[in-house]
Amino acid sequence: MKISRYLGLAALAGVLSTAAGVQAQTAIKVGYPLPLASHYGAGATAFAEDLARTTGGRYKVEQFPASALGGEREMIESVQLGTLDLVITSSGPVGNFVPEVAITDIPFLFRDTAHARAVLDGPIGEELLTKFPPKGLIALAWGEQGFRHLTNGKRPVSSPDDMKGLKLRTMENQVHMLAFRTLGANPTPMAWPEVVQGLQQGTIDGQENPISVIVSAKMAEVQKHLTLTRHVFSPALMIFSKQRYDTFNDADKAAFKSAGKAAAVAMRKFVDDVETKGVETLKSQGMQVVSAVDTAKFQTVLTPAYAEYAKKFGQDKIDRIRNFK
Ligand code: PAF
Repeated sequence: MKISRYLGLAALAGVLSTAAGVQAQTAIKVGYPLPLASHYGAGATAFAEDLARTTGGRYKVEQFPASALGGEREMIESVQLGTLDLVITSSGPVGNFVPEVAITDIPFLFRDTAHARAVLDGPIGEELLTKFPPKGLIALAWGEQGFRHLTNGKRPVSSPDDMKGLKLRTMENQVHMLAFRTLGANPTPMAWPEVVQGLQQGTIDGQENPISVIVSAKMAEVQKHLTLTRHVFSPALMIFSKQRYDTFNDADKAAFKSAGKAAAVAMRKFVDDVETKGVETLKSQGMQVVSAVDTAKFQTVLTPAYAEYAKKFGQDKIDRIRNFK
């Protein structure tokens, strides 16, 4: 068959199927580092459901969980280039793209979950979201992972002294690395897909993540000790490719925003649930848990790091977050 005739038939088939109510769906690819059975999976699924509801099913959300498309930094780069539509990521590597966001990574900045949510959902969080478009990124909403805690395979950690010399995997995040160095540990930045193998092979002694991750990544299989340090709150973000986003009309842009907000709500619900029962699950899987630390002691040791953060971000900006009610 001649190509022109083939194309004519294909076009006719398109008209007929649309007339019959079978509409082509536009694919939206979303990547994230954790398994489907995680807060990120819950977020991606809620995103797909909300988008289907508000757009009459015109979009098909294709999920790529478990780092199938690379580590968080790589996925953000892909989103920036427009080869991936959407990434669900921790704030970990985001400061390398949007430096202002790294203020949220300061240890012991947020009093509790309610404080963190109020800051991120309020004017400060909104202002931070406006910093993304000039970097080729659209941050749809703030999701979350919970407060981060320490796990390691060497010894129970109850105070900063116990951290001395521990080779700890950190995210690729300067704020976190400075904190762990100041606490006496040996911070080793590493992309998430390499972490479990690093722990198994002993190239790192420990890592830090929220209960939501420690449970979903089955950390109890490779780490003996868990300390509930709550050393930093871990925001997550739904980041859309600006290149792709700019191709949509205003109504669909609003639909993506709405879906991003629905994803954030689902993530928070998942995190709330896992925080109430996760520690018991980890104990039953054999982890030894230090359930509280003297936070003031950690903060005192961190004093020189706090001076550096003040220089980097401005003490007024840090205080604005600390004092937000
Ligand atoms: O530790 C990290 O890198 C992140 O918290 C993780 C596990 C990839 C989830 O965003």
